[in-house]
Amino acid sequence: MRQQRFWFDRLPIMIDVSRDPLRQAYDNEANTRDRQALPAWKKREREAFFSEFRKRGLQRLLEVGAGTGRDSRYFQDAGCDVTCIDLSSNMVRLCQDKGLDARVMDVAALSFPTNSFDGVYAFNSLLHLEKSELPDVLLEIQRVLNPGGLFYFGTYGGFDHEGIYQNDDHVPKRFFSFYDDEHLRRVVGQSFEILEFRSVSRNVKDLRFQSLLLRKPCQIYTCSRREGALHGLEGIGVHIESRRHCLDQIFA
Ligand SMILES: C[S@@+](CC[C@H](N)C(=O)[O-])C[C@H]1O[C@@H](n2cnc3c(N)ncnc32)[C@H](O)[C@@H]1O
Repeated sequence: MRQQRFWFDRLPIMIDVSRDPLRQAYDNEANTRDRQALPAWKKREREAFFSEFRKRGLQRLLEVGAGTGRDSRYFQDAGCDVTCIDLSSNMVRLCQDKGLDARVMDVAALSFPTNSFDGVYAFNSLLHLEKSELPDVLLEIQRVLNPGGLFYFGTYGGFDHEGIYQNDDHVPKRFFSFYDDEHLRRVVGQSFEILEFRSVSRNVKDLRFQSLLLRKPCQIYTCSRREGALHGLEGIGVHIESRRHCLDQIFA
């Protein structure tokens, strides 16, 4: 992956130049998207997440891939401390015009300290990541969340796909990753507790909307892939993040 280093807001962040076409596509569409009305089903999704967030008395929220800032503005108006990020500088400008704390940042390289937020909201943004990237991005999101924090992950899917959408109306055409339900469950289950998984038909061929309410475990036990048999512990409520580290204390 080719990378260049830039400075934004005096914080060092990595810009992945392979995202340039996607950034360009959303820069081009930012003003058009800002004029679009929010469909009723998206309002219901947002409300369902937000009522869980409030019910737990949570406050600090990060939206990743915030687009025009419509949802972040809604959360802020409702009294939350909101930070939002997006790849596209035109989108970030629209967020800032709405009075939001918005930054150009890639969700794959979050420059926030560990345990910074009570919740993360990602509506139709992680679907632009390559499948090989998603596990690490989920760990990044897990890192910036407080233990017990909530993560809403909403995405199109229902079948397995990865590549440029050839009928896309955005220029350049965008890259999408879709997962079937079982695959998505497996990937997110490696770093989060799944509180709710709903898969809703969108009346377009096999396309569904997958709505996941996830929680960062209060205690995280890690083990290496070699201890795969220990994944059985998940079934009795012990969370295992199997991908990165070896927890020598347990397996020594
Ligand atoms: C389909 S739009 C959704 C925007 C908004 N969440 C909404 O529902 O209206 C996807 C957004 O995610 C942003 N995005 C895509 N990949 C990203 C990444 N790696 N890091 C940060 N933002 C990203 C895009 O720039 C775009 O604004």
